[in-house]
Amino acid sequence: MALREIVTVPHEVLRRKARPVTDFGENLQTLIDDMVETMRQAPGVGLAAPQVGVAERVIVVEYYEHEEDEENEDEQTPAPKRLYTLVNPEITRASKEMEVGAEGCLSIPGVMGDVERHLAITVKAQNRRGQPVTLRLKDWTARIFQHEIDHLNGVLFTDRASKVWKPEGAVEDNV
Ligand code: NI
Repeated sequence: MALREIVTVPHEVLRRKARPVTDFGENLQTLIDDMVETMRQAPGVGLAAPQVGVAERVIVVEYYEHEEDEENEDEQTPAPKRLYTLVNPEITRASKEMEVGAEGCLSIPGVMGDVERHLAITVKAQNRRGQPVTLRLKDWTARIFQHEIDHLNGVLFTDRASKVWKPEGAVEDNV
């Protein structure tokens, strides 16, 4: 595995429509491993292949499962991380219900924005071996996946943001 350079605006690859993946061979496996390592090192909770300069339809997402039991809020042991690697992801269903939330992006350093996203989505994709997968996602998780899939279509969160600002501290949960 190797770290790859995260490209930032105004790099043209961020504005390209990424190609569907048809070859699930060694190059794809290396790309995915490198993307996971690069996302973790950044750190970020999601990364799309165009963000490392590769115009192919691949995303990786990793985050801590949110603890639903409020009694465990003081728990020192973090919940296990869940890693998704999706190839050729497609949103096949999206709730009418929308929600506005703050986002940041590793390719647009130091900027946050309020973006309206579908509250729940269904994503069909292939895993890294080419097998079909279907995910039903909601809330914050659905937001991350919508942000990453936008990257595959050359869309950045600042295109959709109703308000953009520069936070004083670090941007958390970059994607
Ligand atoms: Ni992003």
